[in-house]
Amino acid sequence: MAKRLRVSDRIGQIGKSAIHEMTRLSKEVEDVAFLSWAKPTSDTPEHIKEAAVAAIRDGLVGGYSENAGLPRLREEIAKKLARDNKIEADPSEVLVTVGAIEGLAAAVLAVVDPGDEVILPSPTYSTHIRQVVIASGKPVLVPTVEDDGFVLDIEAIKRAITPRTKAILYCSPSNPTGTVFSEQALRQLGEVCLEHDLAVITDEAYEYFVYDGHKHFSIASIPEMRRNVISCYTFTKTYAMTGWRIGYLHADSDLIPQIAKAHIPLAICAPVISQYAALAALQGPQDCVHSFAEHYLAARNLMCDRLDRLGSVFSYYKPAGSYLMFPRILLDAAKDSTTFCKKLLREGRVSTTPGVAFGPTGEQHLRLSFCVPEDAINKAFERMEAYFGG
Ligand SMILES: Cc1ncc(COP(=O)(O)O)c(C=O)c1O
Repeated sequence: MAKRLRVSDRIGQIGKSAIHEMTRLSKEVEDVAFLSWAKPTSDTPEHIKEAAVAAIRDGLVGGYSENAGLPRLREEIAKKLARDNKIEADPSEVLVTVGAIEGLAAAVLAVVDPGDEVILPSPTYSTHIRQVVIASGKPVLVPTVEDDGFVLDIEAIKRAITPRTKAILYCSPSNPTGTVFSEQALRQLGEVCLEHDLAVITDEAYEYFVYDGHKHFSIASIPEMRRNVISCYTFTKTYAMTGWRIGYLHADSDLIPQIAKAHIPLAICAPVISQYAALAALQGPQDCVHSFAEHYLAARNLMCDRLDRLGSVFSYYKPAGSYLMFPRILLDAAKDSTTFCKKLLREGRVSTTPGVAFGPTGEQHLRLSFCVPEDAINKAFERMEAYFGG
């Protein structure tokens, strides 16, 4: 038998993605009710698509752009950062990336040496854990406080810091819990990071989807934090541009050339056609963003109403942001959330994501996505009512 090529220890450490595994298994189930993907189901707004078509016609997209991105786009991003994130940014402090994901990967590679520890408040987006492993760093998962709505546990974070701790990486609004970390908590976190000279890498992908008067706060808006923070953003969620693969990061001007040393071998530059589309997104009308947010809020409320009817099966924290939620399953059978999810898929025809995909503290939970049409939520819950009731 032919021997398999020996892969790196880094890659060997990484297991299968539960999200992709559930997607694969879901394809085997007829007429599945799909709540397992965190991607916008709306199409990209017309004016953004038209700008991309015009850029193709004008012959603008066949070559590379500057590695850091089109200057006009970086200028617009700097304006947005000042307006919406309260980060006074110069365009030279902006790097346009292949989605938030490539920005996060470049940021992690720029600050993490082999063996360095990176603190991740958990449960957290599984890709962040993998990015640390790929940089040969050590992910240190510090549980959030579920009883208070998965908020940051600052004391636990302080206790987790060792001489090898290099960075803290978090996403707020959170995937998978929908928690929006408060300004107060992030200011406390900032003080801890300054005291120990830690880098802070943020994933602010869901910054515009925040409900019930909660506010998204960017930690880089604290002037003393600027030197320590790399803030990552994306067009994917805000403008329903998942497949365009376009995002950006902001960091201090000293750090940008260092992050670019990782960005260039990873990507050279972000797709140029997508950079023109992103420019149109920032310069054009913003009502699409508001209407996505309104839709997600209505969908969240519907999902919470439907969960209330299944009170003997789930308890949950109402998400303050994102389009994801993370109910706890009250049944003993859910101790192994992967087996539970697969059974729910096969027997109930509802596709969800097992909580353990977001770290061990996620066990006994499901991640449900409400960025789906309302009838998909109703269909999934009718099936779950029949499945759990029967
Ligand atoms: C928290 C978070 N960050 C980043 C991404 C991916 O962003 P992008 O498409 O910009 O790479 C996702 C996608 O689900 C996400 O949930």
